[in-house]
Amino acid sequence: MRQDIERILIDRETIARRITELGREIVDQLGTIEDDGLILVPIMTGSITFVADLMRELPIRMRIGLVTASSYPGTSTTSQGVDLQGMHLPESLDGRHILIIDDILDSGRTIQRVRSEIEARSPSSIQSCVLLRKKIPSAMETPCEYVGFDIDNEFVVGYGLDFDDYYRNLPDIGVLREEIIRSALADDAS
Ligand code: IMP
Ligand code: MG
Repeated sequence: MRQDIERILIDRETIARRITELGREIVDQLGTIEDDGLILVPIMTGSITFVADLMRELPIRMRIGLVTASSYPGTSTTSQGVDLQGMHLPESLDGRHILIIDDILDSGRTIQRVRSEIEARSPSSIQSCVLLRKKIPSAMETPCEYVGFDIDNEFVVGYGLDFDDYYRNLPDIGVLREEIIRSALADDAS
C-alpha cells in the first residue's frame, strides 16, 4: 500500500493536533445548545476515520445520523454527480442542530446536496465541517463553517479517503502516485 503513495501530505500527528483544535472551535460554537439538540451527520464512507476521532473531542450530548453518498464511483478522480443512498435521520428535525461531517470539499456538490436535503426539513441550525478543502474556487466558495486543512488540488488518499475504495486504512494523508491512477484507468478502458 505504502509503495503506491508518492508522498505523505499530512502525517497522523499533524491530523490529530488539528482535530483537537477543531473540536475546541466546534465546542465554542455548539457547546451551549440545549440537551438532545445536536445530531452529527457523517457522510459515509470517506468521513469514517475523521468522525471517529472528531466526536471524541466533542464532550456534548449528541446523536449520529449516517448519510451515504458517492460521487466518485470506482476509479474516477473527478466528481460524477452525487448519488445519495440513505439518510438515517430522525423523522422530525424540529429543535435539532445539525453538523454535517465530510472528509474533503472538492466540487462542493456532496455537501451542498446533503445540506439542502436537510435544510428542507427545517432543523434549528445546520453547519458543516470537513477535514480537507481543495484550494479551488468550487470548494472555497461552498459554505462550510469548520475546515481542517486547505490543500493543493491533488488527489489524496488515506485517513478514510479512497481510490477505488482502497487506501482508506492508511493512517496518514498522502498523494497517490500518478501511475496507479493511470494504470487503473487503462484497466477500466480495456
Ligand atoms: P465533492 O462533492 O466534489 O465536493 O467531493 C466530495 C467527495 O468526493 C468526498 O466526500 C470524497 O469522497 C471524494 N473526493 C474528492 N476529492 C477527493 C480526493 O482527492 N481523494 C479522495 N476522494 C476525494
Ligand atoms: Mg466521500
